[in-house]
Amino acid sequence: MVTILFFWLAAPDIDVPRPCDMGLQGCFHIIGLWTVGTFGECFHEQIGFLLGQGRGFKKVAMQFHWNNPQLKPDYVDSSGMVLHLTKNKRTHNAGVLQVGQNNIQLAPGVEKITVEGSCTPDMSRLRLTGPIHFTTGFNHMHYLGRAMNMEHIRNGAKLRDLTMDEVYSYDSPVIHNYAESIRFEPGDEIKTSCHFKTTERSKTVFQGDGTNDEMCYGFLTYYPAENMRNPYCIQWRGLDSSIFYYQETINGCVWQDFLNTSIPTTQALHTRVLSHCSHLGLCLKECVSVIKEAKQHPCLQGDMHEYFRTVAREDGVKNAQLALLFSALDSCDTEMALESCPKPVTDPTSTSSTLQFSVFWIGAASILRFIM
Ligand SMILES: *[C@@H]1O[C@H](CO)[C@@H](O)[C@H](O)[C@H]1NC(C)=O
Repeated sequence: MVTILFFWLAAPDIDVPRPCDMGLQGCFHIIGLWTVGTFGECFHEQIGFLLGQGRGFKKVAMQFHWNNPQLKPDYVDSSGMVLHLTKNKRTHNAGVLQVGQNNIQLAPGVEKITVEGSCTPDMSRLRLTGPIHFTTGFNHMHYLGRAMNMEHIRNGAKLRDLTMDEVYSYDSPVIHNYAESIRFEPGDEIKTSCHFKTTERSKTVFQGDGTNDEMCYGFLTYYPAENMRNPYCIQWRGLDSSIFYYQETINGCVWQDFLNTSIPTTQALHTRVLSHCSHLGLCLKECVSVIKEAKQHPCLQGDMHEYFRTVAREDGVKNAQLALLFSALDSCDTEMALESCPKPVTDPTSTSSTLQFSVFWIGAASILRFIM
């Protein structure tokens, strides 16, 4: 058994420990991470992360993903990290770009399943105010991951592979260093392809933080940080995952209202569907036209429709009402049923100057207890 730890440093506006949800909830900036099998990373000699006044990070959060599926009481962790701070700033301020796919559903017993994600031309254009340069890249999946790559694409044409791991192993990730940094322009694309093997599993595996869940992420260290608005460039199906954090309306769907049955229009939709349809697998004749009408709703179309279905699946207790709605909506639609079953760092000089930390080393590997 392996203990997994993830270190994330971000600039959140929170001051107490809490579940972190893989860097979301507004923490989009990673400034260092460690995973099983890596031994710390020395940054490219021209880059460092800016801390302190002005544009520097003023708060950091450390995020740990511990794995203890058997809930053993004697698991102890004493890992930590050392930040090296200097006033002697390096030439460029760095950042970490995260790309990949947040929607993963892997059927059991399959030799090869490919999951793709993209930081699309539109998504990169939205995020970049100028070109950036990659210095390192690495792939991240969990134990079902077998091979992975990120491709750099410009105007629809592939320029290069960024992180081709023809054989991927969760326990020994490869950090790809670029001797010459790679220039990435606004409007360029990064396509991520993750290949999984599920022959050893008997149940469907979904995306999640746990070691037995799966992930499909790529991490790229870049400079200059000043040219990046938001380094979280990950899709949820075809959607830009980030827009849930700053857009109330997605493809015409006011998504928070759709989740809130106190909102009159949402309530009306639920009432109409549930008063005409059965959620017990019966297709009632009067239900057919009601479903047809309900599916005109912008929140019940395309990727948003799938998004809410996932919300209901992931937390069926909290979202019992939503789950009921989906059962009713699916009651006359066997085709749809088949489709869903697819083949703190403190600034030592505190007020006076802006600091950068240039090299970091995580002492976790040596002091972490791996319990076999
Ligand atoms: C749901 O909507 C009601 C009415 O607008 C509002 O008062 C409430 O805070 C909302 N609940 C959530 C969880 O957003």
